[in-house]
Amino acid sequence: MIRTKLLGLGSYVPDRVVTNDDLRFLNDQHIRQEQPVIETNDQWIQQRTGIRSRRYVPADGSVNTSDLALAAAQRALDDAGAKAEDIDCIILGTLSPDMHFPGTAVFLQKKLGISGRNCACFDIRQQCSAFVYALQMADAFIRAGTYRRILLVGAELHSHSMDFSTRGRDVVVLFGDGAGAMLLGPTETEDEREGVLYTAAYADGSGAMDLYLHIFNIAHRPYIDYNALDREQNQVIFPQMDGKRVFLHAVRGMVMAAHAALAKTNMTWDDIQWFVPHQANLRINEKVVEVAKIPPEKVLNTIEWYGNTTAATIPLTIDYWRQQGKVKKGDRVLSAVFGSGYTWGAAIFQV
Ligand code: UT7
Repeated sequence: MIRTKLLGLGSYVPDRVVTNDDLRFLNDQHIRQEQPVIETNDQWIQQRTGIRSRRYVPADGSVNTSDLALAAAQRALDDAGAKAEDIDCIILGTLSPDMHFPGTAVFLQKKLGISGRNCACFDIRQQCSAFVYALQMADAFIRAGTYRRILLVGAELHSHSMDFSTRGRDVVVLFGDGAGAMLLGPTETEDEREGVLYTAAYADGSGAMDLYLHIFNIAHRPYIDYNALDREQNQVIFPQMDGKRVFLHAVRGMVMAAHAALAKTNMTWDDIQWFVPHQANLRINEKVVEVAKIPPEKVLNTIEWYGNTTAATIPLTIDYWRQQGKVKKGDRVLSAVFGSGYTWGAAIFQV
């Protein structure tokens, strides 16, 4: 039987560390001002979210989402001992694409030096749930024999598109820049517990307007009719969020998805080495762990240092803890994710 195997893993975060205290003083060019720009503080952010710092790319436009994706992808390729030429499909999850269209996967393909080759490029959205959605697609493609080397990437560049003012403080404190990547391929095995064991993806569009970024209204003419420089007047260019509703649904969705993953695979936490939840808020993850009765010593987080990197959080977190020596090749991971849409899901796979 053909199953999907993780061949390589890599991640990348930009060098600039922005602490909670730094963030208070940054303007939208990420330049430190003398007086605080955002009414917030380190204590509030740590207590409510668990975040201490996040990473930002330079504010000069020199780094794009596809650059973050490229750095993570190269590390995943190195880890697998593979070359970019081996890739016959890219699936890239992002809510912060290089541009509206074409999708970011083709820019990554070009930067990998494999443009024009026989390599399909998919962009998927699904925000914070993109990793599980992408893994489900990749697993189906590989088991069907459609592709043999799939590069799955989650990459986000949030720091350019948030509201650096008190109005946007509920969102700006949460998000950071970063990328994570996996190279996936087929393996012939009779062991049902090898490789990617399980994926499930869910959605509920009735929650779509609890976390969204408008930018333009396609039904309106002209479809962009605001002055982007008038920061006070317009909110369409910044993400809008009903944090409390998202919080409650995130806990519910991730608990449900984790329970279903174990029930459908006839597994218990004894069969799983690590629980790697999406990194949106440490309090969400602590609640999920409590309600789903997950052994706390099996939980891996990185939100403290990286904030929420949306599509990148799962491979970024696994790679971080692998570098710390905790996660080992062959370990079995259960991931649960929840994000804008609403979308959510879970997966069980071997590292
Ligand atoms: O992957 C999906 C991505 N998003 C999420 O998962 C977000 C889920 N939601 C959350 O993480 C939390 O709801 C937040 C961290 C966004 C907010 O925490 P909260 O405990 O739900 O706070 P709240 O919205 O109830 O706000 C409490 C107070 C309010 O002030 P008043 O009205 O009580 O005077 C807010 O205006 O905290 C204020 N507040 C802040 N204060 C300092 C909101 N953001 C901030 C801030 N700094 N950054």
